[in-house]
Amino acid sequence: MTQGRIVAGALAPHPPHLIYAENPPQNEPRAECGWETLRWGYERLRRDLAALELDVIVVLSPHWQTYVGTHLLGVPAFKSLSVDPIFPHLFRYHYELTVDVELAEAVHDAGRAAGLEMKMMRNPDFRVDYGTIVSCHLVRPDWALPIVSISSNRASSYYNVDVMQEQAKALGRATAEAIRASGRRALLLSSCSLSHRHFVTESELPEDMSREHITHHGLYLWDMELLRMIRSGRTRELVDVMPEFIAQAIGETDSGALTWLLSALDYPEVPGEVYAYGTVIGTGNAVVGWLPEEARR
Ligand SMILES: [Fe+2]
Repeated sequence: MTQGRIVAGALAPHPPHLIYAENPPQNEPRAECGWETLRWGYERLRRDLAALELDVIVVLSPHWQTYVGTHLLGVPAFKSLSVDPIFPHLFRYHYELTVDVELAEAVHDAGRAAGLEMKMMRNPDFRVDYGTIVSCHLVRPDWALPIVSISSNRASSYYNVDVMQEQAKALGRATAEAIRASGRRALLLSSCSLSHRHFVTESELPEDMSREHITHHGLYLWDMELLRMIRSGRTRELVDVMPEFIAQAIGETDSGALTWLLSALDYPEVPGEVYAYGTVIGTGNAVVGWLPEEARR
């Protein structure tokens, strides 16, 4: 068996609005338009990813929250309806997906060997979280690849942000190690926004873009600071300032998703490609790819 590798990584935020605005057949609500900057950024990311040979998508989502350890989907296939609890009028999505259970088990075992609390989720009726579904759809809407779905163990809420950081780094290393041994060519997705303070009311027409903007300039400054680090390959520095970013910008990276990704990629010093930045209900979202040279035109 040839050695597996992480072919590419992406920061792939999951506002359900982006699927709503795109009107795919799987989603029931219909929209006129909306959030084009982010959607067109995802479109360019998809085009670049199409040049790569991939076997599996590995995703960590803030919306599968587990409080005792990190869990992984451990059932070969799921099919159901996913309804966003906050935005049921925007996201009622019929999903059908397959899981690379063998790789999930390998990540589970590598995490355990690194001293992390890990668990395989074996309930066939489990409702896959919408963060996983939205990020995977926006990156590969044909669902042709199996996924490995990793929970967020909420260490930043249950303990503190430093425990989250250490566990996410260890989980990233374990994920990379399991992928190498598996022979798989993997795409990794950090499913989260950057700054995450959002409006608490919605305009009558959700896709009314005259109402869409960042909730606060301070959050915009933080998002730009992180994107500057990404664009100049300062990803170790980014992980170092993560606790401060999370505290000041209410970062959705408190899930550990971005720390996990950058650790698994071994802190890339090549510039990350920022495909788009835009707000959704006031939160800051960036679509970023760390792709090999041949995919970047
Ligand atoms: Fe979210």
